[in-house]
Amino acid sequence: MDTFLEARHLSRRFMKKGHAVSAVQDISFSLYRGECLGIAGASGSGKSTLARMVCGLLPLSEGELFLEGNPVSWKERKKLYQKMQMVFQLPRESFDSRMTLRKSLMENLQNRQGKKGGREEMEHLLTECGLPVETADKYPHQVSGGECQRAAIARALASRPECLVCDEAVSALDMEVQKGILDLLMKLKVEKGLTLLFISHDLAVISYLCDRVMIMEQGKVVEQGQTAEVIRHPRHPYTKKLLAAVL
Ligand SMILES: Nc1ncnc2c1ncn2[C@@H]1O[C@H](COP(=O)(O)OP(=O)(O)OP(=O)(O)O)[C@@H](O)[C@H]1O
Ligand SMILES: [Mg+2]
Repeated sequence: MDTFLEARHLSRRFMKKGHAVSAVQDISFSLYRGECLGIAGASGSGKSTLARMVCGLLPLSEGELFLEGNPVSWKERKKLYQKMQMVFQLPRESFDSRMTLRKSLMENLQNRQGKKGGREEMEHLLTECGLPVETADKYPHQVSGGECQRAAIARALASRPECLVCDEAVSALDMEVQKGILDLLMKLKVEKGLTLLFISHDLAVISYLCDRVMIMEQGKVVEQGQTAEVIRHPRHPYTKKLLAAVL
């Protein structure tokens, strides 16, 4: 298997009221190219902290990251966020409300291509993400939550990432709209060979999209494996509890 990213013994502590609190404790995993790896766990289990660490947005307290087999230090973190883009829960908040979607998308395209960043490519990205090209002239508040999340995915793709890290990217949407976004992510994975790291507290959503899953509880991975297998035969009591919440 072709390993895109490998995390070895990652830990992260935060100071809270003068005490060090562990948000992520000794987590190791491989993310293979072209797969979708799910991270499930309750609120506060450390999912977002882990995501920000692997994207080079948050320093590690301990551990090592390897991108395509090469170690990446904090100084070299740009290598991580050049290849990995994050998609968040509240798309409207991730856009500048004073800019049209066109302007936001063009910024990402121009970062990569220089000033002459292509209008054609922007329109292609919108279409690819299931939006009519006219969406470009709207402001974030003029589109629905689902459309705004599609635009956020299009903007992430403008940097030509190899991996999308989706942090609760469908959690704020109703079920039908969620399915549309999950189907879009699945299409991008198949057609572009995009690697996905998909975070959700909802195992139903994870089981729809993810090949493998890691279950997190209080900063640790308590169970991992093929999603279908973990759901059919959950071993850890915490996984059983998460499953009971969706059945
Ligand atoms: N910047 C920070 N400063 C202090 N503590 C933090 C910080 N970021 C996260 N934490 C703590 O780390 C732990 C894990 O938080 P994290 O946001 O990673 O969890 P999560 O699984 O993403 O939760 P949610 O499902 O609510 O998004 C929590 O106890 C949180 O309070
Ligand atoms: Mg989170």
